[in-house]
Amino acid sequence: MAIGVFDSGVGGLSVHRTLVARFPQADFIYLADQANTPYGGRPGEEIVALTRAGCERLFAAGASLVVLACNTASGIALRRLQQTWLPAYRRELGRPVNVLGIIVPTIEAATGLPWEHEAERRGDKVEKLDILAVFSTPQTTASRVYEIEIDKRRQDVAVFSQPCPELAGMIEQGAPREALAAAIAEHVKAVSQWIGRSPDRAILGCTHYEIVADLFRAALPPGTPLIHQPQATADALARYFERHPEYDLGTGATRRFLTTGRPGVQSGLVEAFWGAPLRFEGT
Ligand code: DGL
Repeated sequence: MAIGVFDSGVGGLSVHRTLVARFPQADFIYLADQANTPYGGRPGEEIVALTRAGCERLFAAGASLVVLACNTASGIALRRLQQTWLPAYRRELGRPVNVLGIIVPTIEAATGLPWEHEAERRGDKVEKLDILAVFSTPQTTASRVYEIEIDKRRQDVAVFSQPCPELAGMIEQGAPREALAAAIAEHVKAVSQWIGRSPDRAILGCTHYEIVADLFRAALPPGTPLIHQPQATADALARYFERHPEYDLGTGATRRFLTTGRPGVQSGLVEAFWGAPLRFEGT
């Protein structure tokens, strides 16, 4: 059995890389739904159906647990799948399987509070706000998941979400870095104008953006802390495995990379991030 990692494309590699470093002995299967990427501008029901199909593929390939290394799938599809599909599917398979997302761990890291925590609303006026910018796909922005969940926990954090409609697609296609830098600078400028100053911290709320995190760092004021979503996910998963020893993660340290799209070597942008050429197999 193995840990499955799912994304619409190459963005989830940023999470995969950190998970592999944290669980080096586990077997991993990565699935990129490149036939349907990007997800960020698709209708919600399509995202749910595509995410479910991706999970089914990963379970069929031997995963016991699937990490949705995609904010769009986590924000739009995860709860629906956990509530309406997974219980019956688990019974059908007759073995422990689960699907986990990456937004809860990111919110825990951003607020310093565990998921179970609900802030006490005392109605005090908060004098000093910590301004957090979230860069994400249009669907993640529209879901307002970061605003809603952070607001439940911390009244001293104000969230400003900036949709970046073209960015995941550009990264997926391996666009030149100059073009990516220009697009990112525009988004940073737009959110800063909206806030009226630069944000104090930022979340790269689309796993594709992690691949060009250096370009976000360059566009934001020097030293602006970025909440590291892959690290937050690895930490949360380690805690999850302690509570759930029933999941068989394998011990062979195997790594498979599957795509619903065109098999072969990924773009130079991915190669630069990965540190070596990366070849995907067809599903
Ligand atoms: N990398 C994904 C995310 O974190 C999906 C991007 C997309 O397909 O639009 O949202």
